Amino acid sequence: CDQQHSNSNERYEETLAKLPIGKGWATEHLVHYQGFWLTPRTALKGLMWIQDHFNPRATDIFLASSPKTGTTWLKALIFAIVNRTRYGISDHPLLTAGPHDCFPFLDTYVDGNNRSLHELDVLPSPRLLSTHLPLGLLPNSMTDDQSCRLVYICRDPKDVLVSKWLFLNKLRPRQLPPLSLEEAFELFCQGVSHYGPYWNHVLGYWKASLENPEKILFLKYEDLKKDPFVVVKRLGEFIGHPFSLEEESGGVVEGILKLCSFENLSNLEVNKTSVLKYSRDIRVDNRDFFRKGEVGDGNNYLTEEMIQRLNAIISEKLLGSGLEL
Ligand code: A3P
Repeated sequence: CDQQHSNSNERYEETLAKLPIGKGWATEHLVHYQGFWLTPRTALKGLMWIQDHFNPRATDIFLASSPKTGTTWLKALIFAIVNRTRYGISDHPLLTAGPHDCFPFLDTYVDGNNRSLHELDVLPSPRLLSTHLPLGLLPNSMTDDQSCRLVYICRDPKDVLVSKWLFLNKLRPRQLPPLSLEEAFELFCQGVSHYGPYWNHVLGYWKASLENPEKILFLKYEDLKKDPFVVVKRLGEFIGHPFSLEEESGGVVEGILKLCSFENLSNLEVNKTSVLKYSRDIRVDNRDFFRKGEVGDGNNYLTEEMIQRLNAIISEKLLGSGLEL
């Protein structure tokens, strides 16, 4: 086992040494690996470990997303849907633990981080595990298995860009000047952003969801905001926990929506004060996962010219895919 772990570390070091480097938005630079920009110590290393050691179970439920697309919200919703008969609203784990603790990132189980691979193996089923990795980089064992389910969420790129820029500036060390919006915009348009290019991340999951709709559910943040009741019902069905008519008429869906709402979660003590330990180096204040939670806020920061340029890039990249963002 130790030997296998050191093989993964060696593979990581060897791979890393050969990769092109791009500018990071927060602290670390990014590396270009198989078409995507990844942070070395968290994303690339996590990927090597997942490829080498992760064994999916048929009952696993995965959430995949690009950062700042609504991951935190969807984690809370899926956790609440799956566990709705176990907990009442008044003693719910989401009241005292952050969504990222209830529904952890798969790549935080890399040995040497705060959690270990062994902990992953002993988690009870169904395991709820999330990743920001693009579909094409996930191991075949995760993508080929027809039983486990994968939910993907995407969002208007302008809102993603602005949310990400504000978020990552908070993670920048104090001694560095903040990254300007102009610079973040240029990097985003070049595809140089965590797990980017954003459009390729989205397209990978979009195409796979069309080919395999039983396995991959493709959601949009905007739809969740517009019609949460319908989306949550669909989610429940998709992950094998459909709402009964009794539950529907008894207000169970509304209860979950209220529990997971921006207003409720962002005002909980745990989400105001606790810290998510993503890896040994990366710690994020839970409160930074809750900013505004609105559709279209990116337009309040970007100039008209930026909006038009980004819209044009996205239209060109998505041309012929049947997807609109
Ligand atoms: P904004 O910065 O636009 O407010 P992620 O969880 O993928 O990091 O995405 C974070 C974005 O989702 C932030 O967007 C955040 O405010 C928003 N968000 C977090 N919790 C939410 C909730 N319960 N409902 C709606 N939006 C939420």
